[in-house]
Amino acid sequence: MTDFKFDLLATDGQARLGRVHTAHGVIDTPAFMPVGTAGTVKAMLPGSVAATGAQIVLGNTYHLMLRPGADRVERLGGLHQFMNWPGPILTDSGGFQVMSLAKLRKMDADGVTFQSHHDGSKHRLTPENSMEIQRQLDADITMAFDECTPFPATPQQAAESMRLSMRWAARSKAAFTPRPGYGLFGIVQGGIYPDLRAESAKALLEIGFDGYAIGGLAVGEGQEAMFATLDVTTPLLPEDKPRYLMGVGRPSDIIGAVMRGVDMFDCVMPTRSGRTAQAFTKRGTVNLRNARHQDDPRPLEEGCACPACRDHSRAYLHHLIRSEEILGPMLLTWHNIQAYQDLTRSLRAAIAEGRVEAFAARAAELEAQGDI
Ligand code: GUN
Ligand code: ZN
Repeated sequence: MTDFKFDLLATDGQARLGRVHTAHGVIDTPAFMPVGTAGTVKAMLPGSVAATGAQIVLGNTYHLMLRPGADRVERLGGLHQFMNWPGPILTDSGGFQVMSLAKLRKMDADGVTFQSHHDGSKHRLTPENSMEIQRQLDADITMAFDECTPFPATPQQAAESMRLSMRWAARSKAAFTPRPGYGLFGIVQGGIYPDLRAESAKALLEIGFDGYAIGGLAVGEGQEAMFATLDVTTPLLPEDKPRYLMGVGRPSDIIGAVMRGVDMFDCVMPTRSGRTAQAFTKRGTVNLRNARHQDDPRPLEEGCACPACRDHSRAYLHHLIRSEEILGPMLLTWHNIQAYQDLTRSLRAAIAEGRVEAFAARAAELEAQGDI
């Protein structure tokens, strides 16, 4: 078994081409990780997810601990076996989902107590049991247990929240049992405040992690503030470890973040939008519910290799959506995942060839033109 490691293969400005090695395979970066919250990338077969070029999927501690339960997943051979995804899996640590989904949350210095959004049953997450649950799930990449600082937050609120996350980061590291091919990522917090981001990065580097995530962004601060925060954060992170921007984003967010030195991304946008008839194309988003598609024999996106574009017309996709046929969300989800994988594949090629700046300019130009 090879160790968990990151090879930095090329750079183009701040942008990085790399490869993460894990127990269940490699991840070429920049990488987009489709979200498989409850042990499924919604509306996709695992083989279809792999066919888009995705090499890693994300799972959620919060959802899986509630249903079907981490003990059960462990008894059934771990999450890879349970969901039939043989490749790498990253799991989020739970705190972020508790804050957005659970009922009656009560946070203290030790952890968070909450009620399940399914049945109101009472549960608790701490750095220690989050590490244990992620071990039971058999995540290749375990995330430290943190608090995603809400936006807006005063400097005092952001500092207190970040320092709590740093104490939890140290406890996460102490509770994580190293295994060959398995890694633990710390999460930089600090809101939009450069001094707090610097304090957080320093604290995490002292603890020492296999990779560094940037959390607390894409929570309402806007793209400009997010990019400004990345500009002051990624230079503080080690070059020889992967960097992961959590919960981001739209294609333009991903391109801008790659140009600021980020390697990995996850976001519900391609999958969630696919289920609500919104498709991502090089010319921006297209809503297939719109009547302008009803007689359009053209593919959703010319040159896209996904089955929605390869085998069907816009008119048919529109018909499926209007008829509420289950194939509609399936095809649009597939297209969107394909679009995100094509984007990261194109970014990797552009970085390798030293033309990421020109690629980003062209992508912005096409998006500005809109769907025609
Ligand atoms: N997903 C999006 N943002 C965050 C964050 O700040 N922390 C965690 N754990 N998950 C996230
Ligand atoms: Zn397509």
